[in-house]
Amino acid sequence: RGPEAPAADLAGRHVVVSAGGTREPLDPVRFLGNRSSGRQGYALARTAAARGARVTLVAANSELPPPAGVDVVPVGTAVQLREAVVKAATDADAVVMAAAVADFRPAAYAQGKIKKKDGAEPEPVALVRNPDVLAEISAARSRPGQVVVGFAAETDDVLANGRAKLARKGCDLLVVNEVGERKTFGSTENEAVVLGADGSETAVPHGPKEALADTVWDLVAGRLA
Ligand code: CTP
Ligand code: CA
Repeated sequence: RGPEAPAADLAGRHVVVSAGGTREPLDPVRFLGNRSSGRQGYALARTAAARGARVTLVAANSELPPPAGVDVVPVGTAVQLREAVVKAATDADAVVMAAAVADFRPAAYAQGKIKKKDGAEPEPVALVRNPDVLAEISAARSRPGQVVVGFAAETDDVLANGRAKLARKGCDLLVVNEVGERKTFGSTENEAVVLGADGSETAVPHGPKEALADTVWDLVAGRLA
């Protein structure tokens, strides 16, 4: 499919994409975060808009420019991301969770900047679990036939880990990125396999994030039809 003439197979659909990485504050100046750039989620938002969808992009701390024709909802923490995704999902045909959501957040937030105490060892940071947005959205299905997609990076037994995660989350599709060394060439290379709850497996060769995004929307569109 050329970028000049994308299929309008998502016309009339509302899709929600989460992107970026959440930041969990410790105090006014510090947070626990991750290195997600938001690129895959933004590529998903752009390609969905190009295919005719109305797109809500829930963007966690990404510095990328907002894609044209996309409603961007900026969020910071996992709790804020959950609220925005749940709200946008109420009338969504598809929800794609590309964001790196922190599994834990600090149990306490210090209103003032945390200071060192003379000669004292630092206090350990207590953490609590964050809500699992993908599992919640999958269980709720706020609209009949809503398609829910998750992402996972796995090592070791990638497909078995992915299958187990797909079942645990209850989503329709799980995009599994293989991370780590490829045994054939000894170089690091990302490859994705999209696992379907129906048992399907779609291999996506190494390539631009738009290509993976388009494969995801092909699979979503097929399930919406
Ligand atoms: N996810 C989510 N809410 C969380 C954690 C993850 O919605 N609190 C979503 C991510 O956006 C992603 C999918 O779940 O689409 C898989 O994330 P991953 O971190 O691989 O799954 P976890 O269940 O957190 O498993 P792990 O212990 O391997 O981190
Ligand atoms: Ca996790």
